[in-house]
Amino acid sequence: MTDDATRDELIAAARDAATRAYAPYSGFHVGAALLLKNGDIVTGANVENASYGLTLCAETAAVAKIANEGWIGELAEVAIIGGRPDGDDLLGSDPVNPCGRCRQILNEAAERSKTDILVHCASGDGMAVKSYKLSELLPAAFGPKDLGLIE
Ligand code: THU
Repeated sequence: MTDDATRDELIAAARDAATRAYAPYSGFHVGAALLLKNGDIVTGANVENASYGLTLCAETAAVAKIANEGWIGELAEVAIIGGRPDGDDLLGSDPVNPCGRCRQILNEAAERSKTDILVHCASGDGMAVKSYKLSELLPAAFGPKDLGLIE
């Protein structure tokens, strides 16, 4: 499922999730949407903390949700969006790329899912989208295969 409609649906789900971000320190709201192989969509948003370094990114929150449900091996595709809220709008014209830690977190699920997942990165205003394979974002990744857990 890598068609435009799927991409747009995932971005819309990520956009909705971003409204539930807890980001009082940065004011930057990020939403992530994970498409599972059965068509379900699981979302997450960033969760900041007064001890700034403890912040959880949207992608990490979403992967934690699927892992906790036993679905870490069911990931098919991902969308991320981020920006600064202004009323009902999310401002920002540049696609938001996943941070390095989130690329690694996503890789765990992608390897378990035996899929080089597509990651759609959208700007807050939704006008700019760049799509990558995870292997482009995190080449030569270290993952469960390096520990002999999967082939
Ligand atoms: N953030 C994410 O949620 N995902 C990323 O991949 C990049 C950064 C969040 C963390 C923090 O709450 C805010 O964006 C600003 O860095």
